[in-house]
Amino acid sequence: MTPILIWQSAESISTEALAIVVFEKDAGQEVPGDDLFRRFDALTEGLLGELYRAGECTGKMLDAVLLHRPRGLAARRLLLVGGGKREKFNSAELRKAAGAVLRCLKGRGVHEFAFLPAGRLPLARQIAAAVEGLLAADFEPDTYKTDKKDDKRIDRVSIVAGSSPEAASDKVDAALERAVTVTQAQNFARELINEPANHLTPSELVARAQKTAVDCGLDFDVLDAERMQALKMGALLGVAQGSAEPPALIVLRYRPAAVPSSNTHLGLVGKAVTFDSGGISIKPAEGMEKMKYDMAGGATMIAVMRALAALKPSIRVSAFIPTVENMPGSRAQRPGDIQTTMSGKTVEVINTDAEGRLILADALTYARKQGCSHLIDAATLTGAIVVALGHTNVGVFSNDQAFLDQVLASAKECGEKMWPMPLDDEYKDQLKSIIADLPNTGSRWGGAITAAMFLKEFADTTPWVHLDIAGTAWLEEAKPYMPKGPSGVAVRTLIDVAMDM
Ligand code: BES
Ligand code: MN
Ligand code: ZN
Repeated sequence: MTPILIWQSAESISTEALAIVVFEKDAGQEVPGDDLFRRFDALTEGLLGELYRAGECTGKMLDAVLLHRPRGLAARRLLLVGGGKREKFNSAELRKAAGAVLRCLKGRGVHEFAFLPAGRLPLARQIAAAVEGLLAADFEPDTYKTDKKDDKRIDRVSIVAGSSPEAASDKVDAALERAVTVTQAQNFARELINEPANHLTPSELVARAQKTAVDCGLDFDVLDAERMQALKMGALLGVAQGSAEPPALIVLRYRPAAVPSSNTHLGLVGKAVTFDSGGISIKPAEGMEKMKYDMAGGATMIAVMRALAALKPSIRVSAFIPTVENMPGSRAQRPGDIQTTMSGKTVEVINTDAEGRLILADALTYARKQGCSHLIDAATLTGAIVVALGHTNVGVFSNDQAFLDQVLASAKECGEKMWPMPLDDEYKDQLKSIIADLPNTGSRWGGAITAAMFLKEFADTTPWVHLDIAGTAWLEEAKPYMPKGPSGVAVRTLIDVAMDM
C-alpha cells in the first residue's frame, strides 16, 4: 500500500471510510471551536456536536469514534480520531493519529479509506507526517504465521490534500515521495529485526545487504574472517569464535554523483549480533528469545543506506556493519581472555556478554581508516539504558556538541524521542584493567555510560554520536498506531541527518 493524494472536497469522496481529526473542546465550551469541526458539524447536520454533548466523543488523543452512514457525507463510514489539545497537535501527533486510523480500520476489515490531515503545519509537512504514520502502522510482524487473515488488509489509502493552490504543488509531491521512501526503509529494518536467528544468520544478513546494494545501486563489500585477521580485528573475531556461523563486516557505500563541495564523509556503524546468548557469560533463559533483535543497529544502517540511495544526499555516506552470532561454543572466548583490537589497544574480556562494544570497536576503527569524517553508531548495547530511559527514549552519547545537537534536532523533527547522556572523564575510572589497556565492562553503575566510554576510545578524535537503542528497538506493547515488535527506531532520524549534512 502506498498512500495517494486526492484533491477533492472531503464530503464528496465515496470511500469505505473517511477519517478526520477532532480536538478537545476548550474549557467552558460544549464543542470544539475550530473550523474543521464547524465544517463537519454543519455537513453532518449537527452530528458531531451531538456526540460531544453526549460525552461519546472527547477529542482526547487517539480516542476513536466510528460512525456508519454519516449524513451529509458520501463516505460509508466516518471515523473521528482524537488529536488532543489543538495547540499541542504537531507532526508527531499527526503521525500517531494517522497510524491509529489505519490500525482501527484495518482491524475492522476496512480495505480502503480516505484520511484528512489536520493541524497548523504547512501542508507538505502534514502530508509527510500522515504518510509516515500510515505506512509505519501498516507493518505486521506476522511473517511466519500460516493462517494470515487476508481480509484484514489495507489496499488503498487516499490522503485528502484539499483544493488550495499549495495542494497541487511539486513541494507536496516531493514531501509525499520522501516520506514513502523513508518509511519503507523503516519497515525494511523492522522486517530484518523481526527475523529469527535461525533464518537470519550473519551470512544471511550479508546476502540481504548485498541484494539491497544491487537493487538500489550502492557499492558493496564484505570482509570475511580472513580479511579481518589480516587487519588484526581481534575484538570482532573474538566474539565470533564461539559460533559455527562465520562473522562478516558488511560495507555499503554511497557516493554523490556530482563532486561534493565538502570533504564530509559520514560513517554509519551498526551492531548486528544476529543472536546474543551472552556467550560463556550466558544469559538467563527468560527473555533470551528476544536477543534475535540484537542486530537492530545493523538493520537500521542497511535501511538508512537504502533510503539514501534514492534520496541522494550531497555527501559521501558509508555503512559498516559488523555481524556475528554470540555463542558459547567450545571455541568461544572466555572471561579473562585478552583480545588485541585493530586500533592496537588491548582489551580484557571480563564478560563475554558485553560483546557489542567489542565488535563496534573494530568497526569504528575500520570506519575511521576508511576516511570517515563523522561517525554515528546505533546499537542495542546495554540493558542499563533501559533502566535509565525505559522504552521511550534512545540514549544518545557524543564527543562533539555540535554534531550531537544536529542529531537531536533531526530526531525531534522526525518524531523519534532521543535523550542526551553524559560522557564525563570521571566515568573512565571504571574502565581499568591491570593486565590490558581496557576491560570490556565497568562496575554495576552507569552501565550504558561506561559502554559508551569504551566506544569513545575507538572513535578517538573523530566527531561521533552513539545511539543506544536497546530499550527502543523493540516495542513491548502494541500502541494504537503501532503493532508490538520491532520499531525501526532511528532510521528516520539518521536519514534526516545525512540529508541535512
Ligand atoms: N545485547 C545486550 C543488551 C540488551 C539488553 C539489548 C536488553 C536489548 C535488551 C548486550 O550485548 C548485553 O548483553 N549487555 C550487557 C552488558 C553487561 C554484561 C556489562 C547488559 O546490558 O547486561
Ligand atoms: Mn550481550
Ligand atoms: Zn548484545
